[in-house]
Amino acid sequence: MTMSEPIIAIENISKTFTSKERGKGRKRKKKVEALKDVSLEIFDGEVFGLLGPNGAGKTTLIKCLTTLLLPTSGTAWINGFNLQKEENKVRASIGCMLMGERGLYWKLTGRENLDYFGALYYIPKNVRRERIDYLVDLLELSDFVDRTVETYSSGQKMILAFAKSLINDAPILFLDEPTVTMDVHAARNLRSIVRSLNKEGHTIIYTTHLMAEADELCDRVAIIDRGEIIALGPPSELKSSIPQESVVDVEGVIPESARNRIVEIPGIRTAVVKDETNGKTMLGIICDNSRRVLPKIIDVLVEEDAIIEYISPQEVTLEDVFIAKTGRSLSIDTREIVTPKDAGK
Ligand SMILES: Nc1ncnc2c1ncn2[C@@H]1O[C@H](COP(=O)(O)OP(=O)(O)OP(=O)(O)O)[C@@H](O)[C@H]1O
Ligand SMILES: [Mg+2]
Repeated sequence: MTMSEPIIAIENISKTFTSKERGKGRKRKKKVEALKDVSLEIFDGEVFGLLGPNGAGKTTLIKCLTTLLLPTSGTAWINGFNLQKEENKVRASIGCMLMGERGLYWKLTGRENLDYFGALYYIPKNVRRERIDYLVDLLELSDFVDRTVETYSSGQKMILAFAKSLINDAPILFLDEPTVTMDVHAARNLRSIVRSLNKEGHTIIYTTHLMAEADELCDRVAIIDRGEIIALGPPSELKSSIPQESVVDVEGVIPESARNRIVEIPGIRTAVVKDETNGKTMLGIICDNSRRVLPKIIDVLVEEDAIIEYISPQEVTLEDVFIAKTGRSLSIDTREIVTPKDAGK
């Protein structure tokens, strides 16, 4: 990584969606502030992660920066070009993977898709052919690239969508949750290609709601919640904002009464449900000193008839940073529901 000049400068971007709410009685207008006065600089050559729960505003920010949505206020400079005044130069500077497979033509083959999108960037035919051959090789598309996209698995569609974002060999790459429907192997593969593209000099903006992915891949991360950046920095720096020995995870059947009492224990800052499946709960606890409070947590759990399967102090993760700041877990959906039909721009 060679950090130098900001290649993207975001200046006070806000985005408010207005939509009509349907229901009995009179119609009301509903406003969703998807981005609230976001300012941020992204440096040339970095892999920059946008991490946040569902509905945080990640996609909205990417759409604004890629000229697909007009911000309600504010502006940005991308590769030296102004977002609103030099749209076409901005577009020529970026590759983007948004909405994954939905940006592909299903009746065309993979190769025809790439050729079509390459032509939209005015790439000459022979250069296009070479570029596509290179991408087929790089992303190992040869098994399916000459079949129509409708025959693809969802992982294959995603990797083709990724190839599409690379077709114009742009210096800046926006990837919106690129691994979301991929299996573990394909996701790992994609991340390793992202890293090698970065080594070649590409700047990458990568959104995810998976904290481990952001931690592993990104030079810096912005944690975004309800349209605002609540933490910014290298993953290691963000994690070190929480003292060691302050995270305890408990897994098992944990009644709500136990959770309510745990939060009351002196020295405990917050306790949130990180995951809940088949009646089993993963409780994340942030406290001042895990060694001191562990016996008290166990007492409460026993008194409340919890079934403890696992309890242990943990290494601090980016999710803990999020929990400490918001009192919520990353897996909680923060979307404000609007019916797509009514959604205004
Ligand atoms: N076209 C739209 N009209 C109205 N509201 C919208 C529209 N697009 C997004 N929103 C709202 O804006 C907020 C931010 O949404 P956004 O899609 O940017 O979140 P996200 O961080 O990408 O979430 P996810 O992880 O689910 O993709 C949400 O509350 C969402 O419901
Ligand atoms: Mg999104």
